[in-house]
Amino acid sequence: MFDPSVYAARRAALLERIGSGVVVLPSVPVATRNSDVEHAHRQHSDIHYLSGFDEPDAVLVLSSVHAEHKSVLFVRPKNREREIWDGFRHGVEGAVATFGVDAAFPIGELDARLPDYLEGSARLHYELGEHAEFDERVLRALRLVRARCRRDGRTTPTEIISTQVSIHEMRLLKEEAELAVMRRANAITTEGHLAAMRRAAPSVFEYEVEAELLRAFRANGAERPAYDSIVGGGPNATVLHYRRNDRQLRDGDLLLIDAGCEYQYYAADVTRTFPVNGTFSAPQRALYEVVLAAQDACIAAVRPGATMDGIHDVAVRVLTAGLVDLGLLKTSVDAAIESGTYREFYMHRTSHWLGMDVHDVGSTFLAGAPRPFAAGHVLTIEPGLYVAQDADVDERYRGIGIRIEDDIAVTAGGHENLTTVPKSVADVEAAVRGAL
Ligand code: GLY
Ligand code: MN
Ligand code: MN
Repeated sequence: MFDPSVYAARRAALLERIGSGVVVLPSVPVATRNSDVEHAHRQHSDIHYLSGFDEPDAVLVLSSVHAEHKSVLFVRPKNREREIWDGFRHGVEGAVATFGVDAAFPIGELDARLPDYLEGSARLHYELGEHAEFDERVLRALRLVRARCRRDGRTTPTEIISTQVSIHEMRLLKEEAELAVMRRANAITTEGHLAAMRRAAPSVFEYEVEAELLRAFRANGAERPAYDSIVGGGPNATVLHYRRNDRQLRDGDLLLIDAGCEYQYYAADVTRTFPVNGTFSAPQRALYEVVLAAQDACIAAVRPGATMDGIHDVAVRVLTAGLVDLGLLKTSVDAAIESGTYREFYMHRTSHWLGMDVHDVGSTFLAGAPRPFAAGHVLTIEPGLYVAQDADVDERYRGIGIRIEDDIAVTAGGHENLTTVPKSVADVEAAVRGAL
């Protein structure tokens, strides 16, 4: 967690931005895994971004019109018995003392108190449709306030506005302190990828490699992976969301690892592809060099004013030119791009925003046009090539899947690559052999 003053400044900036309004942010409901076992709780990124509070069963309310309570946390109250079973709770006093909000109440008082915070605001900022049960509670509070205000003439919210246009616009622009945490998330992720490269070898199972990633993440203080790690050897590298991670690697396989840690609530998202025996075969290397050239060209194009669509076009052109050169596509580059035949080998987009969520919030379009990058944006660059085992191409290329993914921060002068895992052919081969 950052210093509480960081969250206070964000809350103040948000309230300034929304004018007369109230913001209601519920935590993600705790989900049952099976019988009496629950899925691990992770705070909703919006609540964490604005308070640092990470306990479940919480609601953060921010009001620009309330006389004293600009920020209020509803939390699980202290409970000696529950704390013996589930661990420490900050409770009502702790929420105020540690997180610097103006007031805190037990979560059981939410329904009784929420109407008071809605009253007097022209707009309610709330993400309708994320969870139906909570929507119902908010709407009930609104009905109550409307009835009350018909009698006393006070303002009630007449608009419900998505948090996309307020909080998510703020989250899209990373502060220097956030970038520092994202650099650390990437440094830890590098440790994981290097350990995985050293561990991979013919006859090793994909899950044994995955274990190295997880060990490095946790041993360096990361809370968890930012998403399920993909560790796909041989033809599994062509399965975009492969997660079984249970095949035994073979001599001659490429191994594609898409894995990043979450550190202090910020994600890294990194993919590397390497030969498990330490040496690329000629066809593997040829395709790898094409993907790497595409990634280099995309990264070089990241600067303020560039767009995700523009970056994707760069990737498509370099990848398609490579496919034509190697004979996997048998038309001109322009014809392959025009007709979309390249999509047989490159079927996903090149970038997404990165931040507290791995596919981070923030619109990629502004007023219907691709959004220009600005200093403080962070995005991935992740071109790839995937040749199906039954593709109608020279059989030497079949079953090869390659993706290379880095995390790029846009700076005033261009960009900063946050990712430090080796990726040149020579460096990757050295890392697998344990020589890096
Ligand atoms: N690991 C998820 C992605 O690359 O988008
Ligand atoms: Mn990604
Ligand atoms: Mn990824």
